[in-house]
Parts: sequence; structure tokens; C-alpha cells
Amino acid sequence: MGTKRHFRVWRGDQQGGEIEDYDVEVNEGEVVLDIIHRLQATQTPDLACRWNCKAGKCGSCSMEINGKPKLGCMTRMSTFEEDETVTITPLRAFPVIRDLVTDVSFNYEKARETPAFAPPEGVAPGQYRMQQVDVERSQEFRKCIECYLCQNTCHVVRDHEENKAAFAGPRFFIRAAELDMHPLDAREDRKEYAQAHQGLGYCNITKCCTEVCPEHIKITDNAIIPMKERVVDRRYDPLVWLGRKIFRRDELEHAGSGRGGESMAPSTSTGVTGVAAGTPYSSARGPEAPAVRDDGRMDVAELLLPQQGGPSPFGDDQEFPLPPGGLVYNHPSPDKDEADPH
Ligand code: SF4
Ligand code: SF4
Ligand code: FES
Repeated sequence: MGTKRHFRVWRGDQQGGEIEDYDVEVNEGEVVLDIIHRLQATQTPDLACRWNCKAGKCGSCSMEINGKPKLGCMTRMSTFEEDETVTITPLRAFPVIRDLVTDVSFNYEKARETPAFAPPEGVAPGQYRMQQVDVERSQEFRKCIECYLCQNTCHVVRDHEENKAAFAGPRFFIRAAELDMHPLDAREDRKEYAQAHQGLGYCNITKCCTEVCPEHIKITDNAIIPMKERVVDRRYDPLVWLGRKIFRRDELEHAGSGRGGESMAPSTSTGVTGVAAGTPYSSARGPEAPAVRDDGRMDVAELLLPQQGGPSPFGDDQEFPLPPGGLVYNHPSPDKDEADPH
């Protein structure tokens, strides 16, 4: 026999609504989605809620529980105190359709705008060959279940509807990063695309998206920051600037983007594995950029190059990471009914 617990659930539609109170039975082992189903079965048959798998894999049951973006089916009732009121509200960044169901079509529009994977000309499905290291690099991003909790949490659109047109959001940054790391993607330079068309520059790497991802994808550390660093490298690094002066434009396009040639070949980059294998690291800036290979591409060399230890373009007195006192960022508070993570 379960115990009666107190719940508050937002009820309403586009015209408005309010939080309503319910006392619902809770049994051992149940999750928040079980409580919503019991509410539907016993008290509010018209309560709207989206769900499918009840296993954390379809990404449908996204909601805000005590102000935190979560999956209803993966939030155990045992994580709350016995006498704690559990408040369930719809995702805040998207327009409400009814009760806990929101219109997430913003995300589908951004997905449609993202250029699809395109293999090099002449390479047909079935002929794709990738090295295991390249598979592993992007595997993390393929775990995305498209719950859009990260999109809902990102302050760039959560509180700024006007930014939606120019900002694709963290879910689509990991898509860009995944394709950027794909050795057979020949369509275009994904990080430059992310910067120019997906609003990568709006992101100030607060990592809120990473915090809420139920698949534990390191969105900021493994996708956003590497893309930002490479965009900055390309635009402001003196070696790259020098390379642009030395190489012909056609060579640059080939070498700089690593995309779009008939010579597109599976990557043999040593990148991260080179460092892991013990490639010596020096803080002295190297005299030359990495060699351009016969196929016109450059090795992924960010971690091999000593330039990461070079002088900061922000001056010698700049401290990184930035001191916390300079950041204005509030984590969601469980004490607030409609806590704002920013
Ligand atoms: S790090 Fe912060 S600003 Fe950047 S996409 Fe994630 S939530 Fe948005
Ligand atoms: S990246 Fe994580 S939080 Fe964002 S949509 Fe994918 S699974 Fe959900
Ligand atoms: S119901 Fe599928 S993720 Fe929750």
C-alpha cells in the first residue's frame, strides 16, 4: 500500500492556466510519470502529457519537476523527501499546447535547417570506411534522444524568444560537432556553419545544457568548446593567418576546411590518440603549422600543437577559467516552484 503525497501540476493551454493541487498515491519504485498516469486514471482524465517508452529512450516525457528540466519517466519518487511537494510544469522555452504538452516544432525547424550528412562524390552507401577512432569520437553525440531538455534550459532562448531565429541550440551544436568530426562528411565546414548560421557565438558556455542532459552528453566540453576554439584559431591564430598568406586560395579551402575534394579519404588523424600515446607536449610555440597531407587535409592537431600553451590574446594578466565572481549564473533551485536556471 502506498502513501498519499502532494503534487502541484500546471493545467492550461495557450490562453493561460494555473498550477493545481492534487494528493496522489505513491508506491515504492515509482517515477513521476507513474504519478501522472495515476492522476489521469483517478482524478484528471483530461490531463495532457506526452510519453512513449517509459524507459528514458524516446525523449517524449520532458517536463520541469520542481523547476528542473527532467524526464518524467526517469525521475524516481524516492529522490524526493516523503513530505516534499512535487511541482510539475511544462517546458518553459516552448509554447504550451495543453497542460504538460508543449510545441517543440522549433527544434524540428532547426533540424531541417541543418545540412544533412553528405559523403564525398563517388562514395556510395556501403563503401563508407572510417577508422574506429573517428567512430568513437562522435559516438557520444549519437546517444542524443532528442528530449530537448538542453534546448529548454539554454538561457539564450529560454528567456529570449527573439533569439530563436538566429540560434539553433545545444542539441544542434552537437549535431554540427558530430558531422565536423565525421571524416566522410564532405558538405561544408560544420564549425564555420555553426558560427555563421547556427548562432554558436551566442553560447557563453555556461554548461546548463550539459547539466540537464539525461544521456550525460558533455555538450559544452566535447562539442561547443572545441568548435569555438577551432573557429577562433582559424580566425585569430597567427600561424593560420600566416598560412592564409602563404597558400593559394584553392589550397587553403582544401586544407582549411578539409572538405569537398575528390581526394576525401578516411581520416588517419592521430589527434587525441597521439596525446594519449604520450606525444611530448611543449609550451613553446612551434615554428610551423602542421604539414598538409597529400590528400590536401591537415591532421587534427589542436592537442598536438604547442600553440595551446602560447600567450593569451587577452593579455598576460587574464585568469582562466574566469573567476566565479565575474559570472552571473544561478542554478535551478528546488525550493522555487518555477525556478529559473539562469
Ligand atoms: S553552454 Fe549554456 S549558453 Fe551554451 S548552449 Fe549550453 S546552455 Fe546554451
Ligand atoms: S543532447 Fe541530451 S538533453 Fe539535448 S536533446 Fe539530446 S539527449 Fe536531450
Ligand atoms: S517516456 Fe520515453 S523518455 Fe520518458
